[in-house]
Amino acid sequence: MNFMKATTAGIAFCAAGAVSAAELEVTHWWTSGGEAAAVAEFAKAFDATGHTWIDGAIAGSGGTARPIIISRIIGGDPMHATQLNHGRQAEELIEAGLLLDLTDVAEAEGWKDIVNPTSLLDSCTVDGKVYCAPVNIHSWQWIWLSHKAYEDAGVPVPSNWDEYVASAAALEAAGKIPLAMGQQAWQSSGAFGVINVAVGGVELWNKINVQKDAEAAGGPEMAKVFEAAAAARAMAANSNVQDWNQATNLVITGQAGAQIMGDWAQGEFQVAGQVAGQDYTCLPGLGVNEVISTGGDAFYFPKQDDPEIEKAQKELAALLLSPEVQVNFNLKKGSLPVRGDIDLAAANDCMKKGLEILAAGNILLSGDQVLSADTSGQIEDLMVEFWNDPSYSAADAQAKYASIIADAD
Ligand code: GAL
Repeated sequence: MNFMKATTAGIAFCAAGAVSAAELEVTHWWTSGGEAAAVAEFAKAFDATGHTWIDGAIAGSGGTARPIIISRIIGGDPMHATQLNHGRQAEELIEAGLLLDLTDVAEAEGWKDIVNPTSLLDSCTVDGKVYCAPVNIHSWQWIWLSHKAYEDAGVPVPSNWDEYVASAAALEAAGKIPLAMGQQAWQSSGAFGVINVAVGGVELWNKINVQKDAEAAGGPEMAKVFEAAAAARAMAANSNVQDWNQATNLVITGQAGAQIMGDWAQGEFQVAGQVAGQDYTCLPGLGVNEVISTGGDAFYFPKQDDPEIEKAQKELAALLLSPEVQVNFNLKKGSLPVRGDIDLAAANDCMKKGLEILAAGNILLSGDQVLSADTSGQIEDLMVEFWNDPSYSAADAQAKYASIIADAD
């Protein structure tokens, strides 16, 4: 592990332009228990440099926070740093010249050599310039199963999607909600994407989302995916919570059998003191296609007309990828680090599974990396309608989906 080299580089970048103390307002949407514990690691590390992290948490997850963040930047009231998902969400801000070019930081810190997989840095790069600091890998491709719910229902914890669907009747008979799901669009849309990969396979997902193949989107393989999504819709019918972490809490307390959710859910299990393999089981790729999608978070730095602030922004960007901060943040966040050269000895069994799949190269791009914000929004709108209206047939939803993919950019 080239810890010393990386740390030296970090010091080199910081020392090169020693800065006076600055207060940076940092916006993000990490407001659940696990998310707050994780972002506190960033704040602690930045405060330790002599600067001050002014926390700008925005409740309501990405769907609410992103428009607020983007309108502040476009409206001339920018924060000094903000979390977004790495990928295409910031492309219009970059094109408008509103975000700080971090290429000098990336070069001084050797990000090209340490960020793994390189698709994370590619998702921060436009016209050869780096505009974000990727901080983690969050994969949507997981289902989290409650041992208590299955004990109460008297059936074994499923080891794959088909066993899980087959267990729904026993869960309901025991008064459990088979599938926990919150009511925000990104949650049902995200769960649909995971079912797509598990039931349709990685090749079909790439054909549709990367190549925008509308014929595949309307084809027989995808029809099976929509049938599976209709089954999941029925399993989530009585899940009457709003936020994703409230749905996770239904699993933690054994009121629900399972939740399809990204691995940020791990932060909630950890805050609740639950242990992977003892209190809950995680199945990557729903136990069917073990794959990690390389979604996740990155920090962007809106331009300010203040050289001292700019130096502090660049120091923060370098700090977020330093080895120690990467370990401390990702262990709390339940995500995988962006560096391939650090040791996550304290990682729990689920994180270890994720690291193994990543090391094996079984990775998938995330929707945020391949679909425009507009196309993602159209799919989310379709999923809200489909998941909330049991009379909306799988076939009709698939026809609408295929037309969205036909116009996707
Ligand atoms: C995702 C983000 C994660 C997680 C989740 C729920 O977009 O990448 O960090 O927090 O939202 O808020």
